[in-house]
Amino acid sequence: MPAPRDFTRGLYKIRTTASKAPSDRDLFKIITDGMPGTSMPSWAVLPDKDRWNLVAYLKTLAPEAFKEAPKKLELPKEVASSEASIKRGKEMFEAIECHKCHGTDGRADGPSRPELKDEWGHPIAPANLTKRWTFRGGPGRTEIATRLAAGVLGTPMPTFIDSVEKPEDIWHLANYLASLGPERPSYATLITVTAVRGDIPDDPNAEFWKKLTPSAIPLMGQIIQDPRNFNPSVDLVAVRAAYNERDVVFHLTWDDPSESKGDGKQTFADAISLQFPPQITASIERPYFLMGDANEGVYLLRWEQGKGVGEATANGPTKIAPIAGGEAGGKAVYDHGQYRLVMRRPLAATGEARPTFRPVVFTPVAIQAWDGGAGETGTRMSLTSWYYLRLEEPQSNRRFVIPPVVAILTLAAMVLVVRAANRVR
Ligand code: HEC
Repeated sequence: MPAPRDFTRGLYKIRTTASKAPSDRDLFKIITDGMPGTSMPSWAVLPDKDRWNLVAYLKTLAPEAFKEAPKKLELPKEVASSEASIKRGKEMFEAIECHKCHGTDGRADGPSRPELKDEWGHPIAPANLTKRWTFRGGPGRTEIATRLAAGVLGTPMPTFIDSVEKPEDIWHLANYLASLGPERPSYATLITVTAVRGDIPDDPNAEFWKKLTPSAIPLMGQIIQDPRNFNPSVDLVAVRAAYNERDVVFHLTWDDPSESKGDGKQTFADAISLQFPPQITASIERPYFLMGDANEGVYLLRWEQGKGVGEATANGPTKIAPIAGGEAGGKAVYDHGQYRLVMRRPLAATGEARPTFRPVVFTPVAIQAWDGGAGETGTRMSLTSWYYLRLEEPQSNRRFVIPPVVAILTLAAMVLVVRAANRVR
């Protein structure tokens, strides 16, 4: 998912042509660059000559489609991005009903999503327009404008050059799409837990959370244990975190095209968990990242649609046991293809199974997520291996760090001055 292309029809997604057939250079470029967001890799390792030979061979598989020379697509005159252009683009986005497939905020959650099929009858998901780096034909503005003008053949994604009011609207749309998210994600290596005084809100939409810088963590499909997940739905979780004298609180944001409690047969409850070792020590030994094993378990701070936030221990992905009398809580909201979740827990814990969080200690953490609406449950999940998080120095201590440093430097300078003076004498 998506399935590999059937070459016998001569239908290609990525074209810079006004005719149905792609140009030789279009085919050469896809072979060279691969297709982001799919299992088609880059074949840049092959010598140029071999890649051109492949192009020639592919065309023989659909000779009818390539009988006429392809016509180059002329894009309307480029319009630079500006506030006015983005606004116009958003208007067109609504007027042409892009949202029916791509969702109001572009997160691939439009109402038509479940019915979309490609030319061969396979289900096909609309692109998440906030993640440009997954676009098959590339994330640049010109690439996007070309896709909108030429369409993406073999998919339900139509050609828009005739639907826009004026040809340059293609550029306004491209500028609007480019404003929805970065060209590439910048992934975090460490999650910082901000020290605060006073209350930390449970409301995931509170202003408080918007002020904290998110750490973007990439997730992969679980492909170690059967059944595996080669086509994971959740590929990115943005983590914010804070703590006060009492609690440590995590704020997670991730895209999921449907809010699912599950029917228990084809769909399941959406879920996410933060995984920690049961005890946080200075030792570099950590439990097996895939939810622990029979010898050494892990601790999970977990949220499940319909059940809320809870705590559990796990000894492997199929052996999850809730911790009775857990002290965790929190709140989730679902908004146009995106979950925002707050999970809170006391810093200090009792018992062997639950870790106590301490400032400045590097704490191993891993994430697992399930898009139940896409049939993910059990080992069919997306996950990370171990990352680290670190609770900042408490605020009350920070004030005292600077003065001693300044005092030591002042003293050192004085000693040097006195020594120099003595030498002169
Ligand atoms: C009928 C459903 C539908 C509508 C309406 C639609 N799209 Fe799409 N769009 C898709 C599908 C499906 C894909 C994914 C194709 C794929 O996987 O290769 C897609 C892909 C895309 C892509 C990514 C292209 C790439 O290089 O991978 C962009 C950008 C895009 N659409 C923008 C738009 C805009 C802007 C509109 C409105 C002007 C729009 N779409 C309307 C279904 C739709």
